[in-house]
Amino acid sequence: MTIRAAILGFGTVGQGVHDILFEKQQELAKLAGDQIEVCGVLVQNLEKPRPIKEHLFVTDHFEDILSLKPDIVFEATVGEEPSFTYLSQAIARGIHIVTANKVMFAAYGPSLLAQANSHVGIGYEATTAAGTPIIGLISKLMQVNQITGVEAILNGTSNYILTAMQSEGKPFSRALQEAQERGYAEADPSNDIEGDDAFYKLMILSHLLYNRQPDWETVPCEGISSLTAKEIEKAKRNGEKIRHVAALSFNNGSLTASVKPVALPSSHCLYSIEGVDNAVTVTSDLAGSVTLRGPGAGKRPTASAMIEDAVHILQNNPARRPQLSQ
Ligand SMILES: NC(=O)c1ccc[n+]([C@@H]2O[C@H](COP(=O)([O-])OP(=O)(O)OC[C@H]3O[C@@H](n4cnc5c(N)ncnc54)[C@H](OP(=O)(O)O)[C@@H]3O)[C@@H](O)[C@H]2O)c1
Repeated sequence: MTIRAAILGFGTVGQGVHDILFEKQQELAKLAGDQIEVCGVLVQNLEKPRPIKEHLFVTDHFEDILSLKPDIVFEATVGEEPSFTYLSQAIARGIHIVTANKVMFAAYGPSLLAQANSHVGIGYEATTAAGTPIIGLISKLMQVNQITGVEAILNGTSNYILTAMQSEGKPFSRALQEAQERGYAEADPSNDIEGDDAFYKLMILSHLLYNRQPDWETVPCEGISSLTAKEIEKAKRNGEKIRHVAALSFNNGSLTASVKPVALPSSHCLYSIEGVDNAVTVTSDLAGSVTLRGPGAGKRPTASAMIEDAVHILQNNPARRPQLSQ
């Protein structure tokens, strides 16, 4: 018997999942208990040329994917919809889901987790800091520890720009252009530089940590696009570095969050995070401060997080398809 996997979205991340499932076939079979076979791929535009094996079933209709009766779906499409609807339908059929889609999961993760309850596995490590296993770390650490705060660099593009401004004295526009030339920033970089991307990830962490999110409208979300070379210079003169910090704090039952540029002293855990790296510092009552640093984006780091999630789910759900409803 094989484990049937479908991939929703075949862009950077979906292709990465496909490649790793193929490359690590034998290791994965040992870990998951059976061979994992890709039974189908969902895309938006069937006409687009893509590096995909000829025999693989590719469709632009999600119903076709459901009719293949996959055991698990890897979701790597963009935006809230239709991905939320698709994943909700998959869960209703007892299909495990693994997603990288932070925009959708920030808004609908709580609802999907509630729907899945303990019957279906949900993996979302890839939504937040991609290949850096912060979700896994927190899930383990939070059981006894009370986590009082999180400070994080959750967007590699903005950190790359700030690093170039600080260490090479480049103006914002030049640093952004360089990030785009190197493939770190999208043609439309606003989600990264205005803080939305970090905000979505912070909301995912908030739900994981505190089982709730602050009212989105009340969270200050300030980008880095208006930072001037003068402000960067001033921080430098003071022995500080400006970093784009996403923060959560939980005190006496009150939860606050923010995303904004902050001048950090050299003693701060996030001071040394350079280039496209992400890092998350979690402060808790027993363990103190723990910082995890690593790649926050990219084909293989993101796909790696999804594959690890899948293995974890399959190992912990031996009866793979409970068929909750048809
Ligand atoms: N790239 C990263 O480093 C990274 C890191 C962490 C998380 N993520 C998240 O992972 C997801 C995928 O990112 P990506 O970089 O792989 O994006 P991408 O390269 O733009 O690929 C998106 C894929 O989704 C498909 N798609 C979009 N809308 C669809 C729809 N309505 N129905 C079916 N297929 C649809 C597209 O189909 P076509 O090919 O036909 O256009 C494409 O194959 C996003 O949510 C992103 O935020 C990405």
